[in-house]
Amino acid sequence: MNIDQLRKVEYFAKNYYDKLNPNERIWKDHIRLVRKFAQELAIIENADKDLIDVAAILHDIGKAVSHAEHSKISCSLAKEFLLNNKILENRLDLLLECILKHSSRYSDDENRVEVKILQNADALAVFFDERWQEKSKQELSKDKYQELLQKTKCKVTLDSAKKIVDKQIKTLKNS
Ligand SMILES: [Fe+2]
Repeated sequence: MNIDQLRKVEYFAKNYYDKLNPNERIWKDHIRLVRKFAQELAIIENADKDLIDVAAILHDIGKAVSHAEHSKISCSLAKEFLLNNKILENRLDLLLECILKHSSRYSDDENRVEVKILQNADALAVFFDERWQEKSKQELSKDKYQELLQKTKCKVTLDSAKKIVDKQIKTLKNS
């Protein structure tokens, strides 16, 4: 994948995220964090970095249409766009599987590493999203907030990602 193709993917996705959230919160916070951690994990796990980046960029675009069905919708929007633009066509099946299964409810030992990485990056992003933390701290008691952190931590399954999350939970506890 070349840089022009990457920019095309970003432009395509940003349109959906702007529709969903005109103040760019999803694009600048959530998607930025998922991409960052997905790349970190891809390097550690020796996985396909280009494929994972495109999957990370596109994984939530379906939310602009429906939250409940967003994985499926993201997948079909991504498929049409990537085929039309001839982007990563030879790896399309795995890329779409990453998007379709990015929720932790599809967590399974048998999943390909790229799928696991997107699931883990999506969960990790929460721990580094300052707005999410502020909102949770405001709305929840201290105990409930810690409970929520632990519940979210259960979604992190890769050892490489667990290390990142453990460090961040310590930082959050001291903040
Ligand atoms: Fe997400």
